[in-house]
Amino acid sequence: MAYLLALDQGTTSSRAIVFDHAGALVAMAQQEFAQIYPQAGWVEHDPEAIWQTQLETGRQALAKAGLSAGDISAIGITNQRETTVVWERSTGRPIHNAIVWQDRRTADTCEQLKQAGLESEFKARTGLVLDPYFSGTKLAWLLDEVPGARSRAERGELAFGTIDSWLMWCLTDGAVHATDVSNASRTLMFNIHTRSWDDELLAHLRVPRGLLPEVRPSAADFGVATSDCFGAPIRICGVAGDQQAALFGQGCVAPGMIKNTYGTGCFMLMHTGARPTASRNGLLTTAAAQPDAQPAFALEGSVFVGGAVVQWLRDGLGIIRSAGEVEALARSVPDSQGVVLVPAFVGLGSPYWDPFARGGMFGITRGTSRGHIARAALESIAFQSAELVAAMESDAGLAIEALRVDGGATANDLLMQIQADLLGVPVLRPKVTETTALGAALLAGLNAGVWDHASATDGQTQVERVFEPELSRDEAASRLSAWRAAVRRTRGWLQ
Ligand code: G3P
Repeated sequence: MAYLLALDQGTTSSRAIVFDHAGALVAMAQQEFAQIYPQAGWVEHDPEAIWQTQLETGRQALAKAGLSAGDISAIGITNQRETTVVWERSTGRPIHNAIVWQDRRTADTCEQLKQAGLESEFKARTGLVLDPYFSGTKLAWLLDEVPGARSRAERGELAFGTIDSWLMWCLTDGAVHATDVSNASRTLMFNIHTRSWDDELLAHLRVPRGLLPEVRPSAADFGVATSDCFGAPIRICGVAGDQQAALFGQGCVAPGMIKNTYGTGCFMLMHTGARPTASRNGLLTTAAAQPDAQPAFALEGSVFVGGAVVQWLRDGLGIIRSAGEVEALARSVPDSQGVVLVPAFVGLGSPYWDPFARGGMFGITRGTSRGHIARAALESIAFQSAELVAAMESDAGLAIEALRVDGGATANDLLMQIQADLLGVPVLRPKVTETTALGAALLAGLNAGVWDHASATDGQTQVERVFEPELSRDEAASRLSAWRAAVRRTRGWLQ
């Protein structure tokens, strides 16, 4: 029996999952770590906490599975994307906390780059928009603001990485400084056409090339985790950003196949084949996980606050004690009674790309209750995802027939029903919702020879439940138009 260890480093927790060679989940471990909010709109993580929780969960998952490192054919890494770490090459010590993808501190830098007329150049080369979401301006901020960082970078003393690179560095004890194409394509510095770091973009961002990791396909040799980590050396054979890993784990490897992940945010990706498709509707063009020599691309819609709105109901408003309570509370009312919640807590991602928007709640009356707010919160997740589908259909020139979903919030039946109602197509929930980790394991297993391409991409995603639309199309259109009216009112709030 061959086993794979997937390390799934997410925004709020580190997880490790052992899969067997049939793609079945054998054991899982998870640890949360601190979110650091130094000021409004800023979000940081301690890179050491990320590494320690990831290492411990890897060890715990092996122990729970009753396995040792020698039983593991390969490690696959998947990770929160864009989050930016800079560390010293000589000691492996980070020079600052990681700046998290949600962090908005570089909104003004993005605005300046736009005003310099550079947006179309960045978009044409990277497939991305000028938004603080991506790594490039976060890295530029670190070089400017951490004393001595720029000159040290120019002397080659520092290394930059997204979380995959940071984990690889730690796992291999500094032997490997690499990333995969799917992570590189989220940095604003990677040219998706030439598939290499782009010197002109680096010049615009004032980033020395010597900081950057080597870019490899997603199923490739990424070095060996030392025996200090898990007791014996284990090869690292697969790496992909979490959303691209989920696309692969859902078996979406052919043009037109689409999935939506409901995590902290919502991320909808459509595979578009071997050539990049430019978006006219506020989507991103991004590298898909690349399992072989052939490049692979996707269109992506990124929503910054998805499941996180439920955490806000719990931690910010205190109207539920646990995230699991939200469904019952939202079901306690038949509808939101006209309340619309726009959770633009960190600005708006696709299709609006407005870092200056902030959240709002509209249509409140004296009769508005906790139940209505909970229902409006769930609806906000589905509205944002429905807007992504509309943009994707328009860019790709096709109508989707069904939406494959995954991620923690898909356990919420009411949310899935609302989603099907708004879209007017069935929503398919898979049996294994751990598709992100599965995708990383599949990529690693492919390169390690556990699977061939056909078995790694076939039959992995059996459907557990289909949610059929029940709402009339007129009613769905009228709710969407109320949503769009509310979004308009949140735009540019900070400007
Ligand atoms: O782009 C950000 C995304 O990769 C974060 O995903 O699952 O940690 O919310 P998640």
